[in-house]
Parts: sequence; structure tokens; C-alpha cells
Amino acid sequence: MSPTSARRSSIDHLLQHAEPGQPARIEGWIKTSRFSKNVSFLHVFDGSSPRTVQVVLSEPPSEDLKGRLGIHSAVRVQGTWVASPGGEQALEIQATPEQVQVIGPTDPSAYPIQKKRTSLEHLRTIAHLRPRTNTFQATFRVRNALSWQIHRFFQERGFLWIHTPIIAASDTEGAGELFSVEVPGQSEPFFGRPTYLTVSGQLQVECFAQAFSNVYTFGPTFRAENSNTARHANEFWMIEPEIAFADLDDVIALAEDFVRQISLATLEQCAQDFELFDRFVEKGVVQAVRSSVDKPFARITYREAQELLQQSGRSFEYPIGFGQALQAEHERFLAEEYFKGPVFVTDYPKEQKAFYMRQNDDGLTVAATDLLVPRLGEIIGGSQREERLDQLKRRIVELGMEPDDYAWYLDLRRFGSVPHGGFGLGFERMLMWLTGIKNIRDAIPFPRTPGSAAY
Ligand code: 4AD
Ligand code: MG
Repeated sequence: MSPTSARRSSIDHLLQHAEPGQPARIEGWIKTSRFSKNVSFLHVFDGSSPRTVQVVLSEPPSEDLKGRLGIHSAVRVQGTWVASPGGEQALEIQATPEQVQVIGPTDPSAYPIQKKRTSLEHLRTIAHLRPRTNTFQATFRVRNALSWQIHRFFQERGFLWIHTPIIAASDTEGAGELFSVEVPGQSEPFFGRPTYLTVSGQLQVECFAQAFSNVYTFGPTFRAENSNTARHANEFWMIEPEIAFADLDDVIALAEDFVRQISLATLEQCAQDFELFDRFVEKGVVQAVRSSVDKPFARITYREAQELLQQSGRSFEYPIGFGQALQAEHERFLAEEYFKGPVFVTDYPKEQKAFYMRQNDDGLTVAATDLLVPRLGEIIGGSQREERLDQLKRRIVELGMEPDDYAWYLDLRRFGSVPHGGFGLGFERMLMWLTGIKNIRDAIPFPRTPGSAAY
């Protein structure tokens, strides 16, 4: 596998493989430049590495060139790789001003990113420029690595990646948080029936689990919930594995293995980027994640969770007790303070969960599980599915839904139905947990939240 295109080697590759004395050529953007009488320094990055290349100019550049070598000017530098006398980097490039070619200058007085550290809130208003800042360089390298490790986890275990539709004809979660898909100005629905942006690929991926046994989806999902919080977005990515011949214990075992493996592999793949998160975004986050995944995850039932909340002596904003929803404050108390690590909560009241979850014998609860983690609360929601035709049909009717709309889904229970289940991991929430990023708007390239969809 070549890390180079035909004509350009990445800075990451060069910093690992260049040798002193070799001719150098890099292309990138200037992070910082410093000029003095005898010697000048340019630091150049191209996104392939958290590290910059130091370019040392032994002759002073002309005033004109100097004016064009400010922050974020795009340059090509040729010269010679030499051993770097400072401790900062092993290699640097020695060049003359003639060997620095400005490909796309930036006028420093007009450039919107001025100070060395600008606030995340401000950078959100210039989301087209923020990928070039240190924090977002690290964020999007880690986001990429995390996706890769997720695919790797499933591919190494023989799971098939199924591309479930973005335009969906049903409300999987039954929560009514749908964006509809319409052609402006047309009175008849384009698809002959109402359609929506998918809230989850689960129902469709279940069809494939009953044919390929182990499958997963990984794609964008859309929810029209009007939640203006730091952990909700209207467009987010979700990973949904689905396994056949499996019960809730199997689903939980898979989820635990998955979260542990992708966490450790991403920390390792992006060790340098995590130094930034550890120092500037959430102090000690790397050790906190490591110690969270080092030990077995805790597991309690919803009923036990409510009892723990009641015994805690805390005063919560939202009510507690059997039947009450676990709110973010409750989830964080359980994961952060009580268990001090990830905890699976199982067997929620059926009223709180979607129609497809398997009904427990108590008649009150379903075989559901949420995984709660410190700092964030829920990052995974999953369940064993109701594989019994009669029970599923009855629940659909009970909830006032139309069984005909789910005829195809009910067919799965008619023809070779097996116990099965799966879960959904919120991709941005996972990224936030690993890095300490506090707002989901900073974990996705172009966030969509209520009242805000620029670009
Ligand atoms: O708990 P949820 O709604 O579960 C499902 O959609 C199931 N169909 C999954 C399955 O069993 N296959 O969503 C799963 C996860 C949540 O735990 C959360 O991490 C994330 O998706 N999530 C959101 N992330 C960001 N913004 C939102 N508005 C989110 N809603 C859910
Ligand atoms: Mg959920």
C-alpha cells in the first residue's frame, strides 16, 4: 500500500521515511512562520499527521515573499532533508527562498481565524474553515480512524455490511421524529406513499440477519427531535449490528466486546492526536477511557437502577421510581458516580421502548438494554427482538399502529423466525466519549441542529 499519490508524498510518510541528505519536496499550508535577520522558520502541515514540517530558510526572503508566507498560505517547498538540531523533530528541510513556491496565498488581515486558540463556539460559525485548526485536525483524523476500526471489528468477525435505505417508508422507533421526503410543489407523494429520512436501519437490516446471520449497518440517520442539547443532532451516524440465533446476553456480550476493541484500537491508531485531547479538551481522558474498558462492564436491570437512584439520597430534577424515564442526569449518576464506568441497564418498561422489543414474561418489561457511560449517559440502545408472530402483532395493534404497514416485517416471523437482536451505537457520542469533545456540534463536519443547517 503506497501512502503517496503519483506526484506527492504525505508529510506523515516523509517524516517517517525521509533520510538526511535526500532532496525534499512537500506541499501543504503554513501553520506558523517566523522571520529574523539570519534565519526564518516555516511550519507546514498537510493534514496527514499532527506534526508539522519545519522549513529553515537560511537567507531572508524578500519583503514581498514574506507577506505571502503567513498563516494558511498554501506552499510547495523543495530543498534538502537535514537532521534537526532542536529536539522538536528529527528532520527538517533546509531551503532557500527561491525554493518556496506560494500556490495559494492567504491575506492574513482578512483571514477569519486570527488568534492561536479561538473558541469552539466561534469556529462553529465558520465550519468551512475549522478543519484546518489543530483541534479539528485531530477530531477528524480520530473520526476517520474510529470508522475504520468499527468496520475492521465487524469485518474480522465475518459480519456483512448492509447498506440500508436512507429513504424509508416506516418509522422504526415509533417515536414520530420523522423528516418527510417530498418533492416541492407536487401534490401526490413521489413514491406513491409517505416516505421519510430513516431514523434507523434496524428493521431493514433484520431482513438480512435472517439470511446472513451476522450483519451491520453504518450510515447517517435523521431525527426531527427538537432537542437543543450538547448530545443531540438531527443528523447523526449510527452503527447497528444485528445477530441471529441470539438473545439479550449475546447482544450485550457483543456490545461490550465492540466498545472495548474499537476504543483501544482507536487510541492506539491516533496516539498523537489523543495527546491533544488529553491536554486541552478533557484532562486525563485517555486514562479514563482505558480504565473504563479495562474492567468488565457493570450490568443492572432498570428496576435496580431506579432503586439505586432512590437510595442515593440525591435530589434530581426529574422524578425517579419504576415507570419513570431514565434522564441524562440519572444516567450520568449511575455511570459516572455509582459504577464509575460503563453500565448496561436492561429490562425497561415496555411503554418506554419501541414496539419490536421482546416482551418479558412479567408482562411489564422488555428485553432491552442501554449502555451508559461516564460524562455522556446513553451511547448504545439495543434489544432482543420479538421473534414470536402473535406477540409482535398484538403489540403493534396495542400501540395503535397499522399491522398492514408492517406486513413484510411480520413475514420475518412467519418464515424461519429465530431469536435475534442487536443494538445501535451513536457514532458521534462514541467519538465524544473517546476524545472528551463536549458538544456534538464539534464531532461532525457540518452539524444539523434545530434552527441551524448552514452549508
Ligand atoms: O436508542 P436508539 O434510538 O436505538 C435505535 O435506533 C435502535 N433501532 C438501535 C438498534 O437496536 N439497532 O438510538 C441508538 C443510539 C443512541 O444510544 C444514541 O447513542 C444515538 O443512537 N442517538 C443519537 N445521537 C445523536 N443525536 C441524536 N438525536 C440521537 N438519537 C440517538
Ligand atoms: Mg435509546
